[in-house]
Amino acid sequence: MIPVCAEGEIAEGTAVRVDDGDRPIAVFNVDGELYAIDDTCTHQDASLAEGWLDGCTVECPLHASCFDLRTGKPTGPPAKVPVRTHGVVVRDGHIYVEVDV
Ligand code: FES
Repeated sequence: MIPVCAEGEIAEGTAVRVDDGDRPIAVFNVDGELYAIDDTCTHQDASLAEGWLDGCTVECPLHASCFDLRTGKPTGPPAKVPVRTHGVVVRDGHIYVEVDV
């Protein structure tokens, strides 16, 4: 598991970016629910943690592709490939991301 931050450090409607040494992961807080996806847009090289949240959808800051945080699937062009989703665990006051190897 990858440590992210202390519980409560991700304000509602925002995201944080963590790097697992392989690829960055973005963790979003949507109305108190935490979602983790690969941070890099599948269209080009942009950080989705820097995008705009609308409910469970994040819009890429570069060309406005939209992704569903629950599934990773693109819901708006130009991206066609999903981002990976990851499990989020809150344990002893800290947030962790579970990444499949
Ligand atoms: S880099 Fe995200 S839509 Fe182009």
